[in-house]
Amino acid sequence: MKAETATAKQSQDLLQVEELNIHFPTDHGMLKAVNGVSFNVYRGKTLGIVGESGCGKSITGKAIIGIQPKTSAISGSIKLGDVDLVKLKRNGREIRAIRGSKIAMIFQEPMAAFSPLYTIGNQIMESILLHRTKNKKEAAMLTVDILQRVGISNPEKRFHQYPHEFSGGMMQRAMIAMALSCEPELLIADEPTTALDVTIQAQVLDLMKQLQREFGMAIVFITHDLGIVAEMCDEVAVMYLGKIVEQATVREIYKNPKHPYTRGLLRSIPTIGSRKERLESIEGTVPIPINMPPMCGFFDRCQDRIPGVCDKREVPETQLSDNHRVSCFLYADTDNETEILS
Ligand SMILES: Nc1ncnc2c1ncn2[C@@H]1O[C@H](COP(=O)(O)OP(=O)(O)O)[C@@H](O)[C@H]1O
Ligand SMILES: [Mg+2]
Repeated sequence: MKAETATAKQSQDLLQVEELNIHFPTDHGMLKAVNGVSFNVYRGKTLGIVGESGCGKSITGKAIIGIQPKTSAISGSIKLGDVDLVKLKRNGREIRAIRGSKIAMIFQEPMAAFSPLYTIGNQIMESILLHRTKNKKEAAMLTVDILQRVGISNPEKRFHQYPHEFSGGMMQRAMIAMALSCEPELLIADEPTTALDVTIQAQVLDLMKQLQREFGMAIVFITHDLGIVAEMCDEVAVMYLGKIVEQATVREIYKNPKHPYTRGLLRSIPTIGSRKERLESIEGTVPIPINMPPMCGFFDRCQDRIPGVCDKREVPETQLSDNHRVSCFLYADTDNETEILS
């Protein structure tokens, strides 16, 4: 019975990230942009990765499609089935075959996805020709179809336009079309709607959910906005300074947030009809993770810090329940605390 359950769960696993580290050697020491990050992505489900700017979200997303910066050292594993993406040659044949067909990414910067030199249609078609069909006519038809489906009107005309002829909102849609054109099993969406106004943002989010239902794809949804997470995600991983400090189902995170950082992020969500004049934001800024001593990275900004404990060693992870884990000394078990205090 137990074995059956384990097999059933395994078949839902799409991607397993284990102990991922992405470090940059600098003149001042080692910058640990991603530091021991582990999470699973399940088929057809959405995992949110939230945290303020500079926490390591984009770099984690990029590592999954194998485009971590050249100057970085990467270790740990990112398993897609039996293949460990970390072990593949950087920009080699194997990762290029996976990128686009199995895993696609919507970048934080829409212009990063397109060259200014070719038409939008040609660039999406190239990707379809590489991964789905060798027939040019069919690829052109599929391109027009996907442009239409992301809500670009007059797609036959738009096909022949260049990136500079598209507005910001249209570029965002074109990039989503590009990412979805090969019906990936996993979509990494990095702040996909941050640059859009609220109405278009809502349309784009609806579209992503609709296409997720149609294709059954999994999404890693990267954002600094916990308000959007409630709408889009099944699970949330909260990142701070290159680490996941809390992870739980969406319901659990909103009902029962544990980490002082998560609580701070939740207090800074604007609510419709809220009487608050000003939103609370977390005081202080995200430090640069160079030469961090073994201590909680949130210590300096934390309202609940315990001096002499939180600044004395690495924070252990506590599994609070099947679907909730947190790294904070407030929840570390007492055995550990006795050890620290003794
Ligand atoms: N190419 C790079 N070289 C050196 N440091 C980098 C590079 N890219 C990102 N970083 C550092 O990695 C950390 C995480 O960056 P990033 O993943 O872009 O954060 P986020 O997406 O959460 O805003 C930051 O401290 C940033 O300065
Ligand atoms: Mg980013």
